[in-house]
This record gives sequence, structure tokens and C-alpha cells, in this order.
Amino acid sequence: YVVNWDVEAAEKGGYDHFMLKEIYEQPKAIRDTLSPRVNNENEIRLDDISITKEELDRINRVYIIACGTAYHAGLLGKILIEKYVNVPVIADVASEFRYGNTFIDENTLMIVVSQSGETADTLAALRLAKEKGARVIAVTNVVGSTISREADDVFYTWAGPEIAVASTKAYTTQLVSLALIAMQMATIKGTITEEDYSGILNGLNKLSKQVKSLLEKEDLVKEAAKEIYNAEHIFYIGRGIDYDVAREGALKLKEISYIHCEAMPAGELKHGTIALIEEGTPVIAVATQEHLYEKMVSNIKEVKARGAYVIALAKEGNEDIEETADSVIYIPEVIDELTSVLNVIPLQLLAYYVAVMRGCDVDKPRNLAKSVTVE
Ligand code: AGP
Repeated sequence: YVVNWDVEAAEKGGYDHFMLKEIYEQPKAIRDTLSPRVNNENEIRLDDISITKEELDRINRVYIIACGTAYHAGLLGKILIEKYVNVPVIADVASEFRYGNTFIDENTLMIVVSQSGETADTLAALRLAKEKGARVIAVTNVVGSTISREADDVFYTWAGPEIAVASTKAYTTQLVSLALIAMQMATIKGTITEEDYSGILNGLNKLSKQVKSLLEKEDLVKEAAKEIYNAEHIFYIGRGIDYDVAREGALKLKEISYIHCEAMPAGELKHGTIALIEEGTPVIAVATQEHLYEKMVSNIKEVKARGAYVIALAKEGNEDIEETADSVIYIPEVIDELTSVLNVIPLQLLAYYVAVMRGCDVDKPRNLAKSVTVE
């Protein structure tokens, strides 16, 4: 159980666990990560990254490499950079990337994401990329960490010390950081419209308050946790970005409650997994991508028809989902690309309360370390 700060000295601030304290620190962590990078003219200004237009024009491939929760955050970077910087992105877990057939050269950009900045596999991927001439940007939460010292550029998440093994505020500030990096690169390259740029930036500026409003739904999430904390298997489903945050939700739950759970693309249910759905099997359905909402509602009907107990996440205004799901947690209006920052809040609280109800050691789950510095 390796942490970078003196755990005894850190205060839980009146919370029962560091994890709950850190979940509640997210409005501030998001604000602290965002505000130094947006100037008074409401423009993104990143002094953290010194990549030029010439260098960016030469980049023909981006890798986003990380582990666990940091990898889940990296998935948003893939979507935003491909869409707004117009370059192919491969997001992969470091332990796989290292042994794959990698195409890295001086025209490659690698972004490594690591809360601790010490994860062995991620550090090894950084070193491999640098050996082959790629430029490496690190997104990390620990000033002076090994990864921060070896990367060409460092973009710090100003989340403050994250003590709980289950990463929460690091994830949401990594999402914000990757959005800022994508916007900065798109602006330098001239590949984003003013409308898209201001849409993302306005969305980012609202997140801190919206996360705060979601935290006020804690009791609703606690009620939902009561319905599922005894389950043996729990499934998370989503489409697109909602599938990415479903993966993060499943990781949160499994690592602190020890319940077997897995996330899958909702469209994959009929290709096998639906055979596992039995009477009372909990399914967490993330249905907040506008253009995929109807498909998600039909996926929820599919699992309901087999007896599943469905907790759905949906955008405010989609109340019709209550005709299908057993319980619904609504998130406020936000552009599709930033929904994960909001969706993950109820998913973090759900994992937390299920683990507490099962009497698990929330901050120090069995067999896990805060930073995996061994391979
Ligand atoms: C997430 O809750 C886990 N603690 C774990 O998956 C973690 O995200 C992973 O080990 C990566 O750690 P890092 O961000 O410090 O590199």
C-alpha cells in the first residue's frame, strides 16, 4: 500500500473514508485544474504544453497509454483528439501496448496518463516511445513523479493528494485535462470551429457546479445501492462515451466491493452476455448520449424482459425512461463529449455505498496498491 504522502497526516475531513472525501473534493479539483488554463477572455491558454503547429502538422498518430482508471480517462482523449485534431488515436492499456506491434517514430505523439506518475507499465511505455523518437506529454497528479520528470511536457491535474486506492477526483480531472489538451492542439492546428470550441469550453466551465449538484443526489444513490449490494454479478452497459464511463463504473465497484462486474457495449448484449442475465441481475445502464438514447432504451427493455433490475443514468428531460428502468438517476444538460465527468459521480457513489454496505475496507481494498510500481 504505497502512497506518496504521509497518510497519517492526511485528514479525512470528517468523512468516514478518504474515498468519500475525495469524491466530494471533485468540484474544487475540477475548478483548480481548469481555471489556471482559461484566461479572462474565456480562451484556453496552456503554458504546460509547448508543441508547435509545425510539430503538430507532422504528427500522424497519437497514442494514449495508461492503466486502470487513467486508461478509462484516456478513452475520452481518443474521442476528442480524433474528432477535433483530426489525427488517428490509439488508446491502450500500458501492459498490452508494450508488447504489441507498435508504430512509433518521430511523427508519433504519446500522451501518458497516470495519477501517481509511478506506474511501472506506463513508465515503460513512456520510455519505449522516447527511445523511438516520439514526443511524450504526461498528464499526472504528482509533481516531481518519475513520469513527470521523464516526459517532454507535463500537464498537472490539480486534484490534490488522492489517498484512497480507488481513483475518483484524479479521473474527473484527467477528463478535463484531456479535453483542454485536445482543444489546445485543435486550436494550434486550426482544425476546430469556433462553435465547437466554445461548446466544449462552456461545457467545461459549468462542470464544477454540475458535479456539486449531482453530489446532492447521494441519498438517491444510497437507495439504489441497497437494491444491489448483495448481488453476485452486476453488468454495466452503455454506448460510445457512455460505454467508456460504464467501464470506469464497473472498475470502481469491483475493486472496492469485490462483486464480479463487467461493462460492455450495450449493442453486444445479444452477442452472448444476455445469456447471463437472470431474474434480479442488476444492470447499470448509462443512457446519456442523445443520439444513442433510443437504442439504449431498447437495450434496457431487452434485459428487463429477462428479469434484470435496471438502474439507469439519463439526461434530465428523458423521463420516459422511468417506464422501463427500475430506478433512474438524472444528470443535468451537458454536451455529449463531457457527460463522463457527470455520469461518473453517481457511479462512484454507488460503488462506495455498495462497498460500505458489504463491510469492505473501502480505502484499502484487498490485494490492491495505490500505485503499481511493479510490473
Ligand atoms: C483505479 O481506481 C485503480 N486504483 C487503478 O486502476 C489505477 O487507476 C491504476 O493503477 C493506474 O494508476 P496511475 O493513474 O497512478 O498510473
